[in-house]
Amino acid sequence: MTDRNATCGGELYPTGPILAIESSCDETACAILSPEGQVLAETLVSQQDHAAFGGVVPEIAARAHLVLLPDIVRKTVEKSGLTLSGLGAVAASVGPGLIGGLIVGTNFGKGLAIALRKPFVAVNHIEAHALSARLPGVAPEGVAFPYLLLLVSGGHCQCLAVEGVGRYRRLGGTIDDAAGEAFDKAAKMLGLGWPGGPQLEALAREGDPTAFAFPRPLKGREGCDFSFSGLKTALARQLEPYGMETLPRVLAADLAASFQQAIADVVDDRVRHAFTMMEQPTALVAAGGVAANGMLRACLTRIAEDHGVPFVAPPLRLCTDNAVMVGWAALEVCREAARRGCPMPDDRALRPRPRWPLTEMESRFAQNTDASVTPAI
Ligand code: KG4
Ligand code: ZN
Repeated sequence: MTDRNATCGGELYPTGPILAIESSCDETACAILSPEGQVLAETLVSQQDHAAFGGVVPEIAARAHLVLLPDIVRKTVEKSGLTLSGLGAVAASVGPGLIGGLIVGTNFGKGLAIALRKPFVAVNHIEAHALSARLPGVAPEGVAFPYLLLLVSGGHCQCLAVEGVGRYRRLGGTIDDAAGEAFDKAAKMLGLGWPGGPQLEALAREGDPTAFAFPRPLKGREGCDFSFSGLKTALARQLEPYGMETLPRVLAADLAASFQQAIADVVDDRVRHAFTMMEQPTALVAAGGVAANGMLRACLTRIAEDHGVPFVAPPLRLCTDNAVMVGWAALEVCREAARRGCPMPDDRALRPRPRWPLTEMESRFAQNTDASVTPAI
């Protein structure tokens, strides 16, 4: 028996700190948070083995998670000063993401929860990004629902109306490449390393953003869908005359700056449209790895100012994949379950899911049973 019902009757759950695991892509991470969301310990390893391949190799990532995770969890527990038996629950990213890594993290988390006789909370990785702005300390006054979220990572690019825990309305998203993918592919074409986003941003600082005329795909269109693949093709065309030659640095910097400016202009237009698609958001929030981009942050700050709301983005280390946001999302889910009179979630019957649309998240509160989260692949 777990202690999942121990807190029915108004108390908050979980009953003690939560240990969270992230392994959905190429970051292997563990964090322990108090039930109030204070970070007690955190360990994160960004796998380096993928750089030589110019992108994440799923099989290598899964094997690396398997090797790294036991030690990372042990270290995190040590750093927290707790013992395993002092934990109140275990959480892990169960989807969406690369299935090999998800299997490793989910099964590790479930195994630990079962051994400790504690509940296991399945976390949707995108939901974790979406709620990360509400982590204590990220915004001085906190972020209340509803808010407008721009989620921009290596695999995702979408605008969401975040109306509550489990309540996400997709306003629009990319119809081809994700924003991070566009940065990574452009960086590769310019001969930069991987991941390309930060390196392209650094090179762009030396360049002239008006030097090249890149297209602004979907700018001015209804809704807030994005498209980035045309930009990539435009860059390839600019590079054609140079063949295999190494580009002069000045030219590469001008291309990087112009490419980044095109992305920022498109995001500016699309996010302004997104504002017209929801009523009175309390804030504009950005999450995901690309939200680390300084130019994008400046552009989003201006949009938020124009709409009279604060712009909130987690600190850079919480924009990219991490376990703190996973623990926080699990706590939000537990709190919402308590608010709705549902029992403490215990999702050990749930299998890892490479795809897990946010629109399915509210169903976990629909019935007071373990099966309330959509099962299996
Ligand atoms: O959220 P994330 O860590 O991983 C997932 O994709 O879930 O995002 C990684 C992406 C990569 O494509 C990376 O190039 C991009 O975020 N990125 C950036 C910057 N830092 C990371 N893109 C543009 N500018 C940056 N400063
Ligand atoms: Zn992510």
